[in-house]
Order: sequence, then structure tokens, then C-alpha cells
Amino acid sequence: MKYITIKKIYKTKNNIKINNNIKIYGWVKNKRYSKLGIYFIDIKDGTSIKPIQVIIKKKYIKNNKKIKNINTGWTIIIKGKIKVNKKNKKKEIYAKKINILGKINKQNKYPISSKYHSLEYLRKFSHLRPRTYLIESISKIRNTLIYSLHNYLQKKNFYLISTPIITSLDTEGHSKMFKIKNKKFFNKNTYLTVSGQLNLETYVCSLFKVYNLGPIFRAENSNTNKHLAEFWMLEIEIALANLNKIINISKNILSYCSKKIIKNNYEEIEFLLKYNKKKNIDYILNLINKKFIKIKYKDIFKIIKKKENIFKKKIYWGMDINNEIEKYLTTKYFKLPIIITNYPIETKPFYMKKNKNNKTALCMDIILPNVGEIIGGSEREENIKILDKNIKQKKLKIKKYWWYRDLRKYGTIPHSGLGLGIERLLMYITNMNNIRDIIPFPRYPKYLKF
Ligand code: 4AD
Ligand code: MG
Repeated sequence: MKYITIKKIYKTKNNIKINNNIKIYGWVKNKRYSKLGIYFIDIKDGTSIKPIQVIIKKKYIKNNKKIKNINTGWTIIIKGKIKVNKKNKKKEIYAKKINILGKINKQNKYPISSKYHSLEYLRKFSHLRPRTYLIESISKIRNTLIYSLHNYLQKKNFYLISTPIITSLDTEGHSKMFKIKNKKFFNKNTYLTVSGQLNLETYVCSLFKVYNLGPIFRAENSNTNKHLAEFWMLEIEIALANLNKIINISKNILSYCSKKIIKNNYEEIEFLLKYNKKKNIDYILNLINKKFIKIKYKDIFKIIKKKENIFKKKIYWGMDINNEIEKYLTTKYFKLPIIITNYPIETKPFYMKKNKNNKTALCMDIILPNVGEIIGGSEREENIKILDKNIKQKKLKIKKYWWYRDLRKYGTIPHSGLGLGIERLLMYITNMNNIRDIIPFPRYPKYLKF
């Protein structure tokens, strides 16, 4: 007999499959014991975040004493019948035979008992927390997001380029990087990459539309709810594209993936709304319907300068759009996602193309309410002379960029690109407050369990 999944049981119409003999496996979430001697066990099997109730009659338990011990976290196989509860119309399984695949000897030591656990507590058990509905929901949404990103880009004829993780170059110019100890191996200093962008740019000069989706490493000592030392980024480069083009593609990507998530993960979204005490999915609909405010840095500057007194930090031209400002703009002033363009060059890396005024860059950041920056992108400087000037201005070692400069020397082409933080976008979609709960195995300062 083949196993049936909980998802299938819930999907099957009430009139079919009911009363047939079935076999199902699962992990016990809860157990209850009624005064009449009946056992009720809720099981999950990874296919649905709604558990199903298994009913075990007194008679059966009498013949099989071990059944009484079954508890949260145990793995079991059940043979039985599906019936519909006459009162609440819910499907249930009446057990005829139970096999125990995995038991827990010291039940009171099991960290993921059926009571409520805080997120901080769960983080201590990143190997066991996947068993919670919360992490199950987030993981399934993450799966849809990554799959739909590939899907969208493949449909639009982008080529996936796997850029290297070990590198000798700092893409952003002034990043804190994780240094690889084994200098002898490559006979030079090497690091874990902070962005695959520069490598990706080598392929845009041949394949026209390229992307990369992989892990990124940053050694900044950022102990915030938005920073990880290891996170995932989607990076895109498009030849002959200008700033507007990459803004549009960003909007399209966010809209497409959000739609897919609503379609494939409604159950999980519902669970997370309840978990985070949110009423509706308007915030996701804003992405689907592309409701963004597009505004230049200089106009943002006017807005915040007027409100100077409400911010803790000093407001000056050339400052970064920090947390405090992001929050004010997205949750109070506009109450929508915003796209800020044309930042002052001092806030941005050497590779960005400048506007004619030489003061601002042809760049954009997309900022979401409660999450902050999720996408950063720009036109790339394709003129070798200006690029060299930028490298010098930022006090970077020009020699190190020899191969990147070759791209401009030999048949250069105007192009633009962007980077999207996967976990930041997931924070927004799932409504979770801390990025450490978004990635399967979080790494952040002073924290790497195994
Ligand atoms: O703005 P960033 O640093 O841009 C780049 O690295 C470019 N080279 C990307 C490109 O144009 N190809 O990072 C891009 C995005 C940010 O907007 C943010 O969403 C995310 O990556 N990000 C982080 N996510 C989690 N933890 C961190 N420490 C992050 N730093 C950046
Ligand atoms: Mg950025």
C-alpha cells in the first residue's frame, strides 16, 4: 500500500477516498487522552502545515501498551481509515495499526515540545526548529521564491552564471571580508565574496542578459535584525539597459514572485499572518500591483530636512538613508515601498555611472516598509577613463582591477545591474521581524552553532 499525504487527504473531495484503507507516516505534534480511553494524536508529514488528527481506540491500546507512550516528536506510521467528523466536518484518521519508527526516550529533554517557544529559543536549535510550523512555512515560501526567480529569468532569456565564492577582490570597494587562512594554496590573499557582480559583468559582455543566485559573505560586525554574515543574493546584469530598465525589471520580478507565493503558499501565508498578528495581505498586494513611490535622493533630502528635529542622527547632504529615515518614509510619510534614485556619489561604490552633474550616481535602492533596502542597482561605468578616475577617487588599488578594466578596454558596452537580498524580501513577505529566522542556518557575529 502506498503512503497517502496529508495534503492529498485535505485536497480530496469528501465523497471519495473516505473509508478506504490508507497508510500514512508522520511526526507527532500533540497528543491528548480522553476520559473514555481514546487517544487523539495530531500528526504532520511535511506536505501540509495543517496537521491531521489520528484517533486511537481504547481496545487497540490495550493490545499494544507502547502506543500509550507516543508523544510529541515521535515518528510513526499509521494504517487506518479516513472519516469525516460529523460535528466539525474535519477529516480524521481512525487508526487500525501503528508502527513506531522513531521514539524519544527522554521526552522532557526534547527541545521542541508542543508548548510555545520563543524565536530566540528556537534559534538555539537550528537543527530541530525545522519541525515547527513556523520554520516549515518560511522554508516553503523561500522555496517558491527561489524557484520563481529562476523561472522568471529563464523565461526572459537570462543565462545563469555561477560566479565564484572564493575571490581576491572586494566588489564593493570597502567591505569587511572573511579572509581565507590558507594563503599558500593560491599564493595570494583570498576571501569569501561580498558580491558576484564584477564576475557577472564579464559574462554580460558576451551573453547580454545574465544572473547569479548564490551565497554572499560579509564580515561586518552588524548585530541587527537585517544583517547576516552569510546570506543569499540574486544579481542581474543587462547589456544596453539603463536605470529605468532595471527599475522596471525589479518591479516585475517582485510582482511575479509575490504572485507565485500567494498562489503556491496561501496556507503558509495565512499561518504567518496569524502568527504575526497581521490582518491582511495588502502589503504583498502592493508588490503584486507594483505600487512604488519613485523619488530622487534630493527630494527625499528636502522631505527629511524639513522634519530634521524628529531624527536622532544629523541630516546632511551626502548621508546614507539610514534605518530611522527608511522607517519614517515607508511607514509614516509614503506608507508604501519606495524607489530612491540618484544618490550622491560619496554614498555609492566606484563602479556606478555618474550623472552629468558629477555629484549623483545613476542608481536606485528599493526600500520596503519594516525591512529597509532589499534591492540596490545602477548603471555601470563603461568608459575606461572615467572608471579609472573613480577607482582612484575611492582610493582603491587600480592594479587589482586589471581584468575588470579589460572589459572596458576591449569592446566595452553600456550595461546596468542590480542585487536583491533574498532574506530581506522574505522578511517582508513572511512578516517576520528578524532575518535570523528567515535563513535555514543563521550566521551572525558570535553565532555559528555548527
Ligand atoms: O547593496 P548591496 O551591498 O549591493 C551589492 O552588493 C551590489 N554589488 C549588488 C549588485 O548590484 N549586483 O547588496 C544588495 C542587497 C541589499 O539591497 C540587501 O537586500 C542585501 O543585498 N544585503 C544583505 N542581506 C542580508 N544581510 C546582509 N548583511 C546584507 N547586505 C546586503
Ligand atoms: Mg546597497
